[in-house]
Amino acid sequence: MDVNARIALLYGTGEGHTRKIADHIATHLKEMNHRVELFDVQKLPGDFSLDGYDGAIIGASIHAGNYSRAVKNAVRDYKQWLKTSPSAFFSVSLTAAEESEQAKEQVQAYIDDFIARSDWHPVLVASFAGAMPFSRYGFMKRMLMRAAGRRLEGEGDFDTTRDYEYTDWASVDEFIEQFLSHLGLAGESSGESRPSV
Ligand SMILES: Cc1cc2nc3c(=O)[nH]c(=O)nc-3n(C[C@H](O)[C@H](O)[C@H](O)COP(=O)(O)O)c2cc1C
Repeated sequence: MDVNARIALLYGTGEGHTRKIADHIATHLKEMNHRVELFDVQKLPGDFSLDGYDGAIIGASIHAGNYSRAVKNAVRDYKQWLKTSPSAFFSVSLTAAEESEQAKEQVQAYIDDFIARSDWHPVLVASFAGAMPFSRYGFMKRMLMRAAGRRLEGEGDFDTTRDYEYTDWASVDEFIEQFLSHLGLAGESSGESRPSV
């Protein structure tokens, strides 16, 4: 493979935070001179194919205990490629922002269940804490997320007029480095392509 990999980054998002993480990953990879194409799984072109990519990353967020149908469909549709090529999965949830053992077990259960059902075995799996963008919520989501927010921020004067973000961006960067090392490209950031060997 060339030093400059071609990577497909597919994401499913509800309120935009998984897209923000995907954008961060894409920017970081591009700064290292890799070629990255971003795709919202809800808007995949009908003739979409992963052929020609050196690797793929799929990101999905949890809503009501589940990853989106569109992400599950994408994994189903491209499973043959995913099974035979380097691919990574990142999960985004608010449970991942909690410290308790119970929360850790819950996040692991979300991921394990998804992996088992999809029969896809990514070379790398990561869990990132998500966000509560109250400014993007309608009435129902604001009500629903107020309870989750109180759990994370404490009962006191929980403020639903501001946004909250829990993502540890350093761990996202670490995930990128780990994925590159699975592609045999750890620490590579050359501006030049070298011929494949
Ligand atoms: C309606 C709703 C339901 C949610 N349900 C869960 C849940 O069951 N478990 C969890 O850990 N996080 C839950 N979350 C938190 C989201 O996973 C978190 O906000 C994440 O950042 C969303 O990413 P997205 O904007 O890319 O969809 C929920 C969020 C919303 C708005």
